[in-house]
Amino acid sequence: MNRFYITTPIYYVNAEPHIGHAYTTIVADVMNRFQKMTGRTTFFLTGTDEHGDKIAQAARASGIAPKEYADRISGLFRKTWPKLGVENDKFIRTTDPEHVKTVQYVLQKVYDAGEIYFSTYKGLYCVGCERFYMERELVDGKCPDHDTVPVEREESNYFFKMSKYQDWLIEHLKSHPDCIRPERYRNEVLSFLREPLEDLCISRPAERLDWGIPLPFDRKYVTYVWFDALLNYVSALGYPDGELFGEFWPVAQHLVAKDILKPHGIYWPTMLKAAGIPMYQHLNVHGYWKTEEGKMSKSHGTVVRPLDLAPVYGLDAFRYFLLREMVFGLDANFSREALVARINADLANDLGNLFSRTLAMTERYFEGNIPPFSSEADERDRDMQGKAENALRIFREEMPALGFHKALAAIWECIGAANKYIDSVAPWNLAKDEGLLPRLKTVMRTLLEVNAIVAVLISPFMPETSSRMLERLGIEKNPSELRLDRDAVWGTLAEGKKVVKGESLFPRVETEGKKAEKPAQAPKKAETAKKVEEPGAPRIDIDLFRQVDLRVGLVLSAEKVPQSEKLMKLVVDIGEKRQIVAGIAKTHSPAELVGKQVVLVANLKPAKLMGIESHGMILAVRDGNDLKLIVPEAKVAPGGRIS
Ligand code: ME8
Ligand code: MG
Repeated sequence: MNRFYITTPIYYVNAEPHIGHAYTTIVADVMNRFQKMTGRTTFFLTGTDEHGDKIAQAARASGIAPKEYADRISGLFRKTWPKLGVENDKFIRTTDPEHVKTVQYVLQKVYDAGEIYFSTYKGLYCVGCERFYMERELVDGKCPDHDTVPVEREESNYFFKMSKYQDWLIEHLKSHPDCIRPERYRNEVLSFLREPLEDLCISRPAERLDWGIPLPFDRKYVTYVWFDALLNYVSALGYPDGELFGEFWPVAQHLVAKDILKPHGIYWPTMLKAAGIPMYQHLNVHGYWKTEEGKMSKSHGTVVRPLDLAPVYGLDAFRYFLLREMVFGLDANFSREALVARINADLANDLGNLFSRTLAMTERYFEGNIPPFSSEADERDRDMQGKAENALRIFREEMPALGFHKALAAIWECIGAANKYIDSVAPWNLAKDEGLLPRLKTVMRTLLEVNAIVAVLISPFMPETSSRMLERLGIEKNPSELRLDRDAVWGTLAEGKKVVKGESLFPRVETEGKKAEKPAQAPKKAETAKKVEEPGAPRIDIDLFRQVDLRVGLVLSAEKVPQSEKLMKLVVDIGEKRQIVAGIAKTHSPAELVGKQVVLVANLKPAKLMGIESHGMILAVRDGNDLKLIVPEAKVAPGGRIS
């Protein structure tokens, strides 16, 4: 079928876009651009996930209505993608009326089919994950993702008969071995399915949570956020009767990270089956980007902002780095140093040099005119052509199979070979001898052909660079018009066209003797000496203040103190673990505290609050009815002393 449909997760609007979201969305964009090059008609979907507890809480914390809050953050996501070179066809929001309609349609359909029932459930619930946990899924009694103790909850709710589809799903995954890719994640799902599957609670009482889609058959309940969110993949196509649905659903591929394997590998297939919708084709699962500070996610607060880095180092360099550095399916480390190293070695040195050497020599020897092949190719020329065609072959194989880093490695092998080819045939020596002119033409044409193929092959990854290269090679095409069969073919450069050398594609990033960051200005004498005259406030001696041991701490866990409205029990890392009872439960949820940095008074005498020992006090400022924690401006090592 000549269609391609790719989706990213729809991202929660409780935090701003970060590098993890950027990676998934850029990979989807790369896949989509590749498929267009093969001549397919494509549809690329991304968007935002806006309902549920988590979002309602985040909105409350910022003091605005959920919809207004969702509008704001969703807008941020929407604006981010074009800045990262992403060309999606649709941006869906779960608050879109069409989506709401589809969700209610599917709920009613599945309910009418008798696949949804009402029952009472008691269990351990993690607010961060928005789901109940089974005892055996917990690590030391805590949610493995949030490291918090789940709370007990008992509720009457609607349940989807997920368990009923267990055997069907196992069978499907066994008979479609590449349905979930890479294989490790298929195995993970299959191993999960070795245990009995439970039914899925798909509602939340509206009296507790009204920020959701009402169940069509019982308005006292709203839809569980995953049952709502997953349906975006079909509602975006106008399910049930949209034209796009008929066209693109049969070739649906999802792209997600391993954190949401279970909803996509288990909930979603069984939902589709129950709704009578055919199963998706592929679930493509990638690993996690990590910084030195460990797993990066909004619940842990270590966020690298793509918007901050991409414009500094160049959008294409950023995209190249993400796709080259991560082996699809495995985790990878992100650091500025690694990014700069790739820019200097692969982009400035290898690609940048090849391109500028080739064009500079074409200008010098032929006034920029693309020469014809004028002599029989010798072994080195044939070898060079072979390297370029090999890169093309590997690219064709690896791109649809998620081997992006392998495709790039193959292209760079060809680039490396071309730089060696230049050194070995030494065109500058050929240019000295009139009799060798035909040979010089063949060599330069060979190099220009290599550059043209490279420009085509890098286009899904680096559309801007590809576009600059094409233009300077006299190829009058946009990257989006390129077709592999037509444009990645040896010998197709237009003779008679001129090439233009232009500026270097990738300037080196200086690492030594780097532009020194602006030294912090020493405060002016007059300012420091200026006395703060605040009538009425008692003056204390600086030494008295110094007796207070203020430390930065990292909240490791948080749970509400039972029977107390105000108190929260925290374990805080200040180089050692401290248990602290703080009066912040009215304004803060455990989930949003974990992973947060706080400032605390570390040398208070221990106190007991509601029978629980507290070894310190957290600093906060009251703002009307709200309470805001005092936090350091950027992440610092836990235990850092405040001076
Ligand atoms: O889970 N490394 O949304 P979400 C790589 N709304 N990818 C990362 C990442 C990291 N460190 N952090 C996040 C949700 N991601 C649901 C999805 S879909 C029907 C509903 C990416 O905002 C990765 O794609 O928590 C991951 O799966 C996704 O963001 C989770 O985004
Ligand atoms: Mg998440």
